[in-house]
Amino acid sequence: MAKHVEYSGRLRLHKFLSEPAELMAFKSAAPHFLHLQKKKYRKQRRTLRRYFADDSFRYLPRDNAPKKSIAKYWSYRHDLFSLIDQGNIHLTEELWYSVTPERVAKFTAAFIEACLPGATTILDVFCGGGGNVVHFAKVFQKVYGVELKLEHLYCTYRNAEAYGVADRVWLKHGDWLQLAARGRFERVHVDCVFASPPWGGIDYTKTQAYDLETQLQPAGLSQLLSSFLRISANVVLFLPKNSNLQQLSEITRSLLGPEAKCKVLYARENGRDKGLLCFWGEAFYNFDAASPANSGERLAARLQEAHDLYG
Ligand SMILES: C[S@@+](CC[C@H](N)C(=O)[O-])C[C@H]1O[C@@H](n2cnc3c(N)ncnc32)[C@H](O)[C@@H]1O
Repeated sequence: MAKHVEYSGRLRLHKFLSEPAELMAFKSAAPHFLHLQKKKYRKQRRTLRRYFADDSFRYLPRDNAPKKSIAKYWSYRHDLFSLIDQGNIHLTEELWYSVTPERVAKFTAAFIEACLPGATTILDVFCGGGGNVVHFAKVFQKVYGVELKLEHLYCTYRNAEAYGVADRVWLKHGDWLQLAARGRFERVHVDCVFASPPWGGIDYTKTQAYDLETQLQPAGLSQLLSSFLRISANVVLFLPKNSNLQQLSEITRSLLGPEAKCKVLYARENGRDKGLLCFWGEAFYNFDAASPANSGERLAARLQEAHDLYG
């Protein structure tokens, strides 16, 4: 159904949502997209409304690999989202190859929770399709997600719904570098900053030692890390498996002093390295997984799920 409506003093053709259920879905989701109710973001709000109306980017279990380019990732779909067969997972083509595998995301959330008992709030700076967000939201009360692409932010919300945690997720559309330059999140309570920045495409493995200053996007590690440390002393990054460790150590010392350390875990799945989990912050260096205090049933169960991720 199409109808003319008055909008900003001009007549525009506006397609109304035809299904009340879709309208309801958008209405209940809208408050979780921070600031989009402001007038200056009306274009983004309309786009978001359309995604909900069209139920965009949903993959149904009966689908075959939707495109040749993602056939390889389609065969690993249960490693990305174990609930994918329920038909509620939403992914853009780009997200098929950039989303964090579920077991890595579960382990990351469990490990952060174990190191920071009492933490309530985490910020995922490049939240993509919510591969990490959904598992953070299982263990933390509040998860902020920042993302440049509105369609990815929408997928994050829909995937959080699929995992029953959408009420804990708060999403901000924008470019992190601009948000950081404006000091966004510096006055918000955040116990830990997590980031899985773009690695620069699938060619990242072609160099022997991945250059963390020139290859990482949208900025080098020094700039990204210093922007995160302004928000929290606890920072976790998911970086390429071939990252230059010498450079990692030098950047850590130049930002945090000559004695500073970065804890690095190799994330492995099915015997294959997926990337490095890099941790900054006393609570992470001092965590002793073998101590009886940390061998509670909950953590043990989570770590068991991810037992092959330790390097
Ligand atoms: C590797 S993906 C993150 C995947 C995510 N952890 C997940 O599991 O779905 C990196 C994301 O960063 C986003 N991105 C790139 N540049 C950005 C920027 N300047 N600000 C915010 N997000 C950005 C990309 O659109 C992409 O979705």
